[in-house]
Amino acid sequence: MGRSAPRVSATKPLDQLAKRLKAKTARLGVVGLGYVGLPLAVEFAKEGFSVTGIEIDRARVEQISRAQSYIPDVPSRALNQLIREERLTATSRFDRLPDLDAIIICVPTPLRKTREPDISYILSATQEIATSLRRGQLIVLESTTYPGTTDEVILPMLEAQGLKVGRDFCLAFSPERIDPGSSQFATRTIPKVIGGITPRCQKLALLLYGQIIPRLVPVSSTKVAEMVKMLENTFRAVNIGLVNEIALMCGKLGLDVWEVIEAAKTKPFGFLAFYPGPGIGGHCIPSDPMYLAWKARLHGCEARFIELADQTNRYMPHYVVEKIAQALNERKKPLKGSSVLLIGLAYKKDVNDTRDSPALEVARELGERGAQVSYHDPYVATAELNGRVMRSSPLQAGQLARTNCVAILTNHSNVDYDLILRHAPLIVDTRNQYASLSRASAGVVKL
Ligand SMILES: NC(=O)c1ccc[n+]([C@@H]2O[C@H](COP(=O)([O-])OP(=O)(O)OC[C@H]3O[C@@H](n4cnc5c(N)ncnc54)[C@H](O)[C@@H]3O)[C@@H](O)[C@H]2O)c1
Repeated sequence: MGRSAPRVSATKPLDQLAKRLKAKTARLGVVGLGYVGLPLAVEFAKEGFSVTGIEIDRARVEQISRAQSYIPDVPSRALNQLIREERLTATSRFDRLPDLDAIIICVPTPLRKTREPDISYILSATQEIATSLRRGQLIVLESTTYPGTTDEVILPMLEAQGLKVGRDFCLAFSPERIDPGSSQFATRTIPKVIGGITPRCQKLALLLYGQIIPRLVPVSSTKVAEMVKMLENTFRAVNIGLVNEIALMCGKLGLDVWEVIEAAKTKPFGFLAFYPGPGIGGHCIPSDPMYLAWKARLHGCEARFIELADQTNRYMPHYVVEKIAQALNERKKPLKGSSVLLIGLAYKKDVNDTRDSPALEVARELGERGAQVSYHDPYVATAELNGRVMRSSPLQAGQLARTNCVAILTNHSNVDYDLILRHAPLIVDTRNQYASLSRASAGVVKL
């Protein structure tokens, strides 16, 4: 009997990937080098992997190639070393995809004008990956999205090329949970939730992230992993909505909401402090719960808490404008024609991200009502406000004294709040920056 040729195991390329991940010789790709993708690419490169960032924004690719970071949490110094040692490269070319062993998708997931999910960036990245998918690749989606995106949308696109998940290639979902601007938590120190399409996909994804993140949280499916992220961000949006509503009530009752929260916080169990403000912004908290609400609606379930929190949070910029108008009115000044300096355009402290920032909405309404709006933000050099490109105004005593009202919308750490307090005739403080002043302090109006 003749000897038959040795059979090549169909699973071999995936076994090889496991070996290369352990040896840190696997070639990794990150699609989308933004607030999420760039820090992640940097962490893998620091660990010794060869990482290719694929980014459609050519200006960003050039900046990375020159080791200039556009993400505050990634110092250019860290990029410089990785670029020099060729551990991190950036490109707009998708024809690099077949060379990569593991590909992580970190593209945007915004809302459409109708406030429904826009997963077009995920679809276009997946299409690029699908056309060159080969045996032995691991694909992971990190973009925040509704439960079902990975198995109902991405998987069929990838399998349409004739390869089988779990046997030829692997697919997983692992939500990004970074907290931009935080000095306490970073990519490596935030536990990573991971769900695979098959147990093998799960295992390989755990192996990938285990190279840089000590605490991994495996869950039973990609849908569960997607829902975990939805719960986390919905929890934030709803609780911020609740505390904003409490702030509106305290305003009517003549109470200081900040004092109320500080006292409530002393309860050692069953209470978690959230803070009111001019509204919510950024790419996540205002949008993500809408992804869940949309998916729930398809299944006949109304997301009532989400809708209610969204309404309250979206009302807050208007409430702030009313506070400013009222405070000016008490000083016998109409809003129309008054100068208002906004401190902080970014949606949160110590970041440069103005996407969906409530400050933009405050500026829009102030402008519409005839106020002369300017802003100061050490992280945002220029911004388009009310159809005009404006520059961040420097903070100067004389100019502060001439401004009718200063509104603190985002309390970045590197702003001279004492200077503002000494010279501005009127301050509307939506972030409790002047916590030590009592509610009745002359010249400072709290939310
Ligand atoms: N920013 C956050 O704090 C944060 C936190 C957790 C999760 N997320 C989620 O992570 C995802 C990415 O968010 P982000 O803030 O990093 O967005 P971002 O806009 O900062 O970065 C996304 C990048 O992807 C690029 N891109 C778009 N389509 C592409 C494509 N087809 N191929 C290659 N590149 C492409 C964009 O040019 C951009 O540079 C979103 O789903 C978001 O909800 C964000």
